[in-house]
Amino acid sequence: MTIPTPAHMVPSPEDKFSFGLWTVAYGGRDPFGEPTRADMDPVYALERLAGLGAYGVNFHDDDLVPFGSDDSTRTAIIERWKKGLAETGLAVTTATTNLFGHPVFKDGGFTSNDRDVRRFALRKVMRNIDLAAELGAKVYVCWGGREGAESGAAKDVAAALDRYREAFDLLGEFVTDKGYDMTFAIEPKPNEPRGDILLPTIGHALAFIETLDRSDLVGVNPEIGHEEMAGLNAAHGYAQAMWQGKLFHIDLNGQSGPRYDQDFRFGAGNARGAFWVVDTLLAGGYDGPVHFDFKTPRTEDDEGVWTAAKACMTNYLILREKALGFRADPDVQAALEAARVPELAIATLAEGEGWADLEQAEMGDPDVLGARGMAFEHLDQLALEHLYGVRGA
Ligand code: GCO
Ligand code: MN
Ligand code: MN
Repeated sequence: MTIPTPAHMVPSPEDKFSFGLWTVAYGGRDPFGEPTRADMDPVYALERLAGLGAYGVNFHDDDLVPFGSDDSTRTAIIERWKKGLAETGLAVTTATTNLFGHPVFKDGGFTSNDRDVRRFALRKVMRNIDLAAELGAKVYVCWGGREGAESGAAKDVAAALDRYREAFDLLGEFVTDKGYDMTFAIEPKPNEPRGDILLPTIGHALAFIETLDRSDLVGVNPEIGHEEMAGLNAAHGYAQAMWQGKLFHIDLNGQSGPRYDQDFRFGAGNARGAFWVVDTLLAGGYDGPVHFDFKTPRTEDDEGVWTAAKACMTNYLILREKALGFRADPDVQAALEAARVPELAIATLAEGEGWADLEQAEMGDPDVLGARGMAFEHLDQLALEHLYGVRGA
């Protein structure tokens, strides 16, 4: 039996939902088993995504043009892809480079110890940026899945970060010289496929970005699951990235705690965490593509893939409605007040007040202050009641 979806939860292009080509085309290969689904034609993927109400797509160079294709094959594939885009009306929101699949990248792309590999990696990225610009992508995602190590002495981390910086400085110069309207979004991940990956969290990436020549061109593309793999609160990471003006793109998916990268459809796994991510994105005014990076479990057939893709969007719409309902609820507004949440927006020192004034100021009695309850439990219970569907719309 199919449960009908309420009309206001049917995705439409205005919702700006986008998908990685590799997400829907994932055939189910894992370290223990062969793919369970056949290779997917990229143009078929466009048709199905458009049919579900998606707005855009994102692709690795090799998702579209198999690694090592000759020039005429590449041109033919790209022409067919462009026709598919025109016919479906899907936008290319972002693009990215596969710097992890081929054995050449076994020690990374930008930070491989092997200098020849680093030069090869940069050329591969530049070539795909040219294509991305031609297709109108505004953000170039950089996930350094193989930039890392399994052992201690194998990687000189400081030297690797020098090379990482060199790569972004070069790419910043490349897009500037070419006049492309494009920024970069670094995607952190703590591990997998490397034992330890460089720039493992949002915080590491934000700090690294500040060292770049053209740091204004570089932001982050946090993935919920990757932060949760590291035991971190994804919503807090998104909030800090927005606070620093660096949330250039998002990878939404589901994860159940610190374990392998599950890449569940958005809303599965840690549903409560997903609710707070949506609330945080709405509060911070994120207006880029709402992008899903999930992998359909290998138990599913082709129809299962589209069920999962649609569910990513439906779950976002459900959580968006719940987050908006939570914020609009007068009981919640009173609870926020009681929890002194608005008070945190007031500067700690008064206008014109300095440390010397503070030194002289009358202080509250710590015992009295310490006895004040914060009323957070009531506030959080209201959030859960909205999430569990017993309050609000
Ligand atoms: C992962 C990553 C990748 C990247 C993608 C973009 O699940 O480990 O999220 O899917 O997002 O390769 O470069
Ligand atoms: Mn992932
Ligand atoms: Mn991702």
